[in-house]
Amino acid sequence: MTLPPVSLSKGARDDRTGLQREVATLAADRRALILAHNYQVPEVQDAAHFVGDSLGLARQAAATDAEIIVFCGVHFMAETAAILSPQKTVLIPDPDAGCSLAATVTAEQLRKWKAEHPGAVVVSYVNTSAEVKAESDYCCTSGNARAVIEAISSDQEILFLPDFFLGLWLERVTGRKLRIWMGECHVHAGIRPEDIQRRHDEAPDAELLVHPECGCASQAMAFGDERTRILSTEGMVDFAKKSPKERFVVATEVGIIHRLTKEAPGKHFEPADPAAVCRYMKMITLEKVRDSLRDTKHVVSVPPEVASRARTAIERMVAIS
Ligand code: 13P
Ligand code: SF4
Repeated sequence: MTLPPVSLSKGARDDRTGLQREVATLAADRRALILAHNYQVPEVQDAAHFVGDSLGLARQAAATDAEIIVFCGVHFMAETAAILSPQKTVLIPDPDAGCSLAATVTAEQLRKWKAEHPGAVVVSYVNTSAEVKAESDYCCTSGNARAVIEAISSDQEILFLPDFFLGLWLERVTGRKLRIWMGECHVHAGIRPEDIQRRHDEAPDAELLVHPECGCASQAMAFGDERTRILSTEGMVDFAKKSPKERFVVATEVGIIHRLTKEAPGKHFEPADPAAVCRYMKMITLEKVRDSLRDTKHVVSVPPEVASRARTAIERMVAIS
């Protein structure tokens, strides 16, 4: 669907608040929904109608009646929205916002792996291309990966991809043996066991919130104590809001700190590794969001034949919590 461009309101282009207003006006005029992942820069999070984790954003994309979805996240997330809402226009403000984890496996590699394990069920993390999802039986996010594995019969062989650290965590919490692809996210893998060990020792009064993609997840699990939790990004927000504690060490991409600070005011959040910055997530700026809304760019489309094969796996993901 091609929508006509809307002319911009004059003035205020150079100040942040003006830009926020411009984005809000364009979104209203164009009946567009702005979705932002928890790792987006603060000003993009603040301009969004909904900020969340991969699962929450996929659910919003599936449920909205907006004509346009502007997806402030990385490419596989926007593709997932396009597959779930084929009749809508899905835009990504920067089409080069990729994902190092999704890039660790191609559809061709997965077909070869499946051929080596005939009869195995394929569970793909949402951080994969549409072509890889089209070769998968189930999709999952960190928010529901455990529930997805538990929904599969216990005698069934499972190929899990592409994140190695998430796979190890799933083996631990489900007690199931999985065949795990050796992929990793360069940002999360860079948060090392020694980082979490040091924070654990230095901050005995803090809760430790650890994303299962982290290189330190196994070390964190080994603490086996009450104050260390392995959580998706949305799980971190829910947990911090409810916890009586005031200090939290957060092991994931640093963008989440903005959302945590906003939603749990008065509490203190510190990154386990301040260098854990995803350069792909940070490619989305408020200016690019404005340009995307104004000029209807960049449209994300998935070939219908790939989309229809990927949709079943994604719909299973959205249905299981
Ligand atoms: P969640 O939002 O699902 O926790 O994902 C983390 C991530 O790395 C997304 O790219
Ligand atoms: Fe991909 Fe890692 Fe960036 Fe998430 S943080 S989008 S997994 S590269």
